[in-house]
Amino acid sequence: MKFYFAPLEGVTGFTYRNVFADLFGGVDKYYAPFISPCVNDKLKGKEIRDILPENNSGKVNLVPQILTNRADYFIKATKQIMDMGYTKEININIGCPSGTVVAKNKGSGFLRDTDAMGRFFEEIFNWRDSDESGLDISVKTRIGVNDAEEFSEIMEVYNQYPISELTIHPRTRKQMYRDTPDMNAFDYAFKVSRNPLCYNGDIRTVVDYENFAKKYNVEAVMIGRGLIANPQLVNEIKGQEKLTKEMLKQYHDRLYRDFEKIMKADKHLLFKMKEFWNYVSWNFEDENKCAKLVRKCQNLYKYNLAVEEIFGTMELK
Ligand SMILES: Cc1cc2nc3c(=O)[nH]c(=O)nc-3n(C[C@H](O)[C@H](O)[C@H](O)COP(=O)(O)O)c2cc1C
Repeated sequence: MKFYFAPLEGVTGFTYRNVFADLFGGVDKYYAPFISPCVNDKLKGKEIRDILPENNSGKVNLVPQILTNRADYFIKATKQIMDMGYTKEININIGCPSGTVVAKNKGSGFLRDTDAMGRFFEEIFNWRDSDESGLDISVKTRIGVNDAEEFSEIMEVYNQYPISELTIHPRTRKQMYRDTPDMNAFDYAFKVSRNPLCYNGDIRTVVDYENFAKKYNVEAVMIGRGLIANPQLVNEIKGQEKLTKEMLKQYHDRLYRDFEKIMKADKHLLFKMKEFWNYVSWNFEDENKCAKLVRKCQNLYKYNLAVEEIFGTMELK
């Protein structure tokens, strides 16, 4: 089984990835949060900065991701990204549920027009084949916009193209992150997919992983929130020691230090670290108390006291 780090826009940027890879690793590929090309000839500075090879440690095997429903934008952006050295694989985001993205028929919004999806894939695979670059084009998808019933038509489109790997997060756009992943939909994909599959969604513990792996023989699993919360999760799955408070503290302190170097204002650092605790608090026996202690902090001084209290007095599950 291969293990991939899911992209989380605003969370798993290059600073985060470098710290993770340095301290924990064990992950075969890291998918970068999406780049959204537009009418401009060049991609935006912030998006490029995240994938610049000099910003990504050699330990990070990075796959850039593009969010678009236009073949011409995809091709233009891909050429620029390939010029930066990413010539192995580009991932397409057909899963993002955010309102502004979906309103433009991008991300999971693209799923409502399977004819347009077909035209898009036709054009990009024709370009890829004529370019002879051997670039792998992979896709990360949800199972529909409003209803899982939509999924069979969507799979029909994917099955017509040589997608190098199809990562499925089995929720509809409407579900956002609610409910549990729809394993009936994943079952269906497992039966009919002509392309290699990667599963993504709600793997938070070794048991979650084992229950999945017992049932499905897929190429890979992609983990996001579970791995941010427990950075040792993939190593645990591979039989290494369980996450300890010391590991978690080291992870926290390194992220704090590295973000501090690049954040212009204290409030940005505070926001960033609070976001980190949204996930990391899951590890603690009293996760609600842990989350609350951090959430109420108004400044870095109070934040540091709260973190000291958490690591000094609270136990992991
Ligand atoms: C804050 C946030 C940002 C995300 N950004 C992206 C993104 O840029 N590209 C993408 O394909 N998925 C994105 N996702 C979805 C995750 O990659 C993943 O599919 C989702 O969290 C489910 O997997 P998990 O349960 O292992 O976290 C994002 C999710 C969250 C919560």
